[in-house]
Amino acid sequence: MNKLFESLTLNNDDILPNRIVMSPMTTWASNDDYTVSEEELKYYAARAKNMGMVITGCVNIAENGIGFTHQFASYDDKFLPGLTKLASTIKQNGAKVVLQINHAGNKTLAEIVGKENVVAPSAVPTEATMFVDSFTPRALNENEIEKIIQEFGATTKRAIEAGFDGIEVHGAHSFLIQNFLSPHFNRRTDKWGGSLENRMRFALEVYREIKRVADKYADDDFIIGWRFSPEEHYEDGLRFKDVKVLINKLAEKGVTYIHASLPNALKPFTHDNHENIITETAKVIDKRAAFLVAGQIDTGKKAEEVLDNGADLVAIAHGLITDLDWIEKVRTGKDDEIIHSISEDRLKELAIPDKLWDTIKNSGDWFEIK
Ligand SMILES: Cc1cc2nc3c(=O)[nH]c(=O)nc-3n(C[C@H](O)[C@H](O)[C@H](O)COP(=O)(O)O)c2cc1C
Repeated sequence: MNKLFESLTLNNDDILPNRIVMSPMTTWASNDDYTVSEEELKYYAARAKNMGMVITGCVNIAENGIGFTHQFASYDDKFLPGLTKLASTIKQNGAKVVLQINHAGNKTLAEIVGKENVVAPSAVPTEATMFVDSFTPRALNENEIEKIIQEFGATTKRAIEAGFDGIEVHGAHSFLIQNFLSPHFNRRTDKWGGSLENRMRFALEVYREIKRVADKYADDDFIIGWRFSPEEHYEDGLRFKDVKVLINKLAEKGVTYIHASLPNALKPFTHDNHENIITETAKVIDKRAAFLVAGQIDTGKKAEEVLDNGADLVAIAHGLITDLDWIEKVRTGKDDEIIHSISEDRLKELAIPDKLWDTIKNSGDWFEIK
């Protein structure tokens, strides 16, 4: 049997039936009040079948931490009914379900939260991305930092109450947690900035608070995952050597899985010294946690190769948007039948929410559109 369909026992004794994980994907399709919409429930239900684990799109743990329009939220108890429905919809299909929790930091949408409420460790301008213009955020004060750490804990408690099997901390993609870790974006001179130890403090305090909440309110098998980006392109930006120190600390503290978000999992090399991110990360984790890898894994063959290179699990994003039978085709050795493009006449069949389709259409060459 091929390795992708072998089960995996996590360090909390949870068993995943296979090694395939739905990568976290924002749907841009919540209701106007940021509760989970019916369209989103259908979209997830259509994809949860046969999956080892499903990670939801990111939710914002604070009102002023929203990174995408119509992103469903988690910062208040009023979101609990929708989150509960989402967790049970996905679980009905047998998959473990993990809520990805985030604060968008310097990439928060100013047009939603107001310019003065976009916060980050320091007032350093950002670069424009596909989804947000360049912007200079306001530096957080100490009390606000402490409050955000509590808010990560409060969302974890909501995830437990809503019936999720775990949470994944979004420590990647230049959002708040990475802003703190980055020497480029974090210019603070207090205990939250400067040395690597200080730049890691926010991440480790967030982990500590989440773990405290999980230990108090959840069963022993609650999953805590952590997603990271390995580096930034700025000359003074974040480097993989610093990220490895954080990964080691998280593994030491019992994190359930570590999730590498890579541009291309089959070319997993750092920019400056061409270190292999997958083999190096596996070495640092040293089997203390599971290791999940994402990045252009769109066929069974590529997925097997990523497992052979040292990953325990593979995360699939594009493939699960464009082909609902991705897993079945991979299981039956039909890689060549996987559909990698999307077209207007398949939207209904694919249960793609209207607003997600608008985003896809307006995002240049992010998706192959036919
Ligand atoms: C529509 C879409 C939405 C995404 N939203 C998120 C998100 O909310 N959180 C996150 O960490 N990554 C997000 N990503 C990145 C994916 O999880 C994944 O890392 C990336 O797309 C590479 O995997 P792929 O080549 O299989 O698409 C998103 C990707 C897509 C295509």
